[in-house]
Amino acid sequence: MSGVVSSDERFMAAAIRLCRRNLGLTSTNPSVACLIVKDGVIVGSAVTAPGGRPHAETQALAMAGDAARGATAYVTLEPCSHHGKTPPCADALIASGVARVVVAVTDPDERVAGRGLSMLRDAGIVVETGLLESEGKAALAAYLTRQTKKHPYVTLKLAVSADGMLGRLGTGQVAITGPISRGQVHVLRAETDAILVGIGTALSDDPELTCRLPGLETRSPVRIVLDPRLELPPTSKLARTALLVPVIVVAAKDDKDDPAFAARQDALETLGVEVLICDPRRLEALLAALATRGISSLLVEGGARTAQSFLEADLVDRILLFKGAGTLGKDGVASPCVSGQMPAGFSLRDTARYGADILEEYERDE
Ligand SMILES: NC(=O)c1ccc[n+]([C@@H]2O[C@H](COP(=O)([O-])OP(=O)(O)OC[C@H]3O[C@@H](n4cnc5c(N)ncnc54)[C@H](OP(=O)(O)O)[C@@H]3O)[C@@H](O)[C@H]2O)c1
Repeated sequence: MSGVVSSDERFMAAAIRLCRRNLGLTSTNPSVACLIVKDGVIVGSAVTAPGGRPHAETQALAMAGDAARGATAYVTLEPCSHHGKTPPCADALIASGVARVVVAVTDPDERVAGRGLSMLRDAGIVVETGLLESEGKAALAAYLTRQTKKHPYVTLKLAVSADGMLGRLGTGQVAITGPISRGQVHVLRAETDAILVGIGTALSDDPELTCRLPGLETRSPVRIVLDPRLELPPTSKLARTALLVPVIVVAAKDDKDDPAFAARQDALETLGVEVLICDPRRLEALLAALATRGISSLLVEGGARTAQSFLEADLVDRILLFKGAGTLGKDGVASPCVSGQMPAGFSLRDTARYGADILEEYERDE
């Protein structure tokens, strides 16, 4: 194979980069990008708007106007063919007079599944699919997982010391990685619908779990705590900021006869915390419930037992291991997975260096 990149590939790569911009912002709709290209010039470009509408294609076509006639549309996901809250994008493309549509990924949504492509072909438009499909699938992983498995795409993120520890019990948050890695974690949070920790972490670290990067402060995900006995203190940072960024506490029982439980529930709810009664040990059912609320991507940030449970239940799609250079010693909390001893079924996809830290990205084998 030659190393020459075709202009089709360059435009699709640009579309895939663009679609990442609104990841985590488009509710139940996928973040899709569309470029309209005429004679080698981009005359329209758009990504699904925050909230999920308008779709990318209609915005890009509006930008292109008459220049769309005879142009090529590059779309990261098959254009929709059904009447939802907006008319089908396939119809909009046909009406615009584009001559060719190039698609990276076919939509598994049963209302679309190939029909969008057929509508375009039936209208005489040249349709090509599968260009940069694996890159497109990576960008659309959350949406595709929710559509096909009915649960969110789960990323397990762990910061691990050089001796395989996640933290030290009873000492609060321990800095394992440096500022560049921590900034990367905030970018991840901005791209994700929800972030989840166990109550052990909430109690020991009192984390805020928000995105605090300048300019991205409004992109914090919903925060979820697995808290069987409803122990999250009303004085915790999570509870105190629940009116600013939603917090869902997943508790195991709804014992109205237990006055102490009811009082804790009242105190949290007064602060704006949602108490979801759903056994946090039944992760499969919990993930299905989160998917029905439109949560397509979930970032699990620990601690050790929570990470272990997700791995044992085989519910992790991707593992991000941020490896710090320092050690924590024997009294540390051991990580359920360390470099070189990853769970079966995961392969190393990428590595990056962030200052003194190394990030290893593992993905579940197809
Ligand atoms: N380096 C990192 O990336 C990182 C990230 C987060 C936390 N940490 C560190 O990890 C330590 C806390 O870890 P941890 O293992 O003690 O606490 P954890 O995993 O945060 O929380 C465990 C608690 O969650 C409850 N829980 C509810 N549903 C669960 C489920 N499905 N699976 C597992 N637990 C569930 C457990 O209930 P039961 O009591 O009923 O079992 C237990 O009380 C702290 O030292 C913290 O600093 C490190």
